[in-house]
Amino acid sequence: MPSSASHVYRGTDYLLGILILLLAGLLLFWTGRFLQPVRLPPASPGSYHFIASLDDVAPDTAFAFELEGRPWYLARTQGNLTAVSGYCTYRGSRIKWDPRNQVFLCEGHGCTFGLRGNLIRGLATSPLETLKIKVIGNRIYGARGRS
Ligand code: FES
Repeated sequence: MPSSASHVYRGTDYLLGILILLLAGLLLFWTGRFLQPVRLPPASPGSYHFIASLDDVAPDTAFAFELEGRPWYLARTQGNLTAVSGYCTYRGSRIKWDPRNQVFLCEGHGCTFGLRGNLIRGLATSPLETLKIKVIGNRIYGARGRS
């Protein structure tokens, strides 16, 4: 009975195949380690994040920035730094800085908040959320939580 050469396997063919698979697996494992995105540990509550340098925030202005994916404003007035949430405490509409009147205005229903997030007028019953602020040298850091 004639046998075709393609059906004849030798032990060395299996070993070569296994070796090639092992090398391919090692190559995938090794390159995969470098292709993975760098995962930073989640910021723990109360941990400080860099916001800006003091030079970035002119006196009597508010500086818009993002922290943990949320909008915030850093106000610098009379030597004080205050960071307030960019969301209103009434129904969550966005807050905008009004430089002419030096207040934060809610676009939703018109609440007005002071530079420290205090409610001046409107339907809200609580002030804007604020960040804890820490200045180290020329760098301003902020953290969630009570200040
Ligand atoms: S959500 Fe701010 S006043 Fe309506």
